[in-house]
Amino acid sequence: MMTERKGTHAKERPSSATSVASSTIRMERLAKRYPMGDEVVHALDGIDFSVDEGEFVTIVGPSGSGKSTLMNIIGLLDVPDEGTYVLDGQDVALLADNDLADLRNRSIGFVFQSFNLLGSLTALENVKLPLAYRGTKSREADATARRYLAKVGLEGRDHHLPNQLSGGQQQRVAIARALVGEPKIILADEPTGALDSRTSVEIMELFKSLHHEGQTVILITHNPDLAEQADRVVRIADGRLCTSAHGHEDRRRAICGTAGRSDAEPTAATVRPAAEREGEAHATRANG
Ligand SMILES: Nc1ncnc2c1ncn2[C@@H]1O[C@H](COP(=O)(O)OP(=O)(O)OP(=O)(O)O)[C@@H](O)[C@H]1O
Ligand SMILES: [Mg+2]
Repeated sequence: MMTERKGTHAKERPSSATSVASSTIRMERLAKRYPMGDEVVHALDGIDFSVDEGEFVTIVGPSGSGKSTLMNIIGLLDVPDEGTYVLDGQDVALLADNDLADLRNRSIGFVFQSFNLLGSLTALENVKLPLAYRGTKSREADATARRYLAKVGLEGRDHHLPNQLSGGQQQRVAIARALVGEPKIILADEPTGALDSRTSVEIMELFKSLHHEGQTVILITHNPDLAEQADRVVRIADGRLCTSAHGHEDRRRAICGTAGRSDAEPTAATVRPAAEREGEAHATRANG
């Protein structure tokens, strides 16, 4: 797998053979393309990526490199054009829409840069929403939501509206909302992107404490200092994961996207003409 692992976390990591078998997320040769007029944006271009239960992985890469596209596919908000995605033992391509929605509700908690709270609902009501969708009785949902608000350090703020809370507090509400359904995986797409640096560090500490309790966390960030705090930093450029040229820790020489390109160079998702895409489609048909 073309990623880097850090050996700084106290937890024992399973051997690679075991980790493939026990991966919560396993992706092989994943591709996602967006037709744009006469051209095709290769947002993801052959991604092999696995995440084990309990891992804390950060995803970094230039703007437009495919981070959110990858996250949306992991979170079952979008589907790949090619490749395999196995989530929690299930090949998602084989699931009907209802089953996909069930798997998403059970497995995934999302946290976004802009918090995405409902402005007319209190903190407690926002956190209760996923439970309401599940049909949890109101009193039980209240108690559970209060517990998660306390867990993220917001006891006493139950009845505040989002606009009565600071940015960091709003993000804590969003994190409580992501956690309340006890998902297998928390996906956070630039959760500190709208926060000042001190608050960003506090929110990162919260993710780290969730991870230490065993929560699987995948987090996109542009902030290298925050990224380095995870077990594993995954770099993406031009829709491809980067591979380290000289061992795991030598990130400066990581090869990203097309062979030989340094990840220090500016990148944009690869744009190829439609004619080439046509050629590939023919080649695939001829081969298959
Ligand atoms: N719905 C879409 N239609 C067309 N192109 C898209 C769509 N979504 C993403 N793309 C393109 O796919 C590429 C990857 O986009 P993506 O949003 O995954 O990048 P990113 O790494 O998350 O960038 P950023 O750091 O700016 O959030 C970009 O070139 C983008 O323009
Ligand atoms: Mg993005």
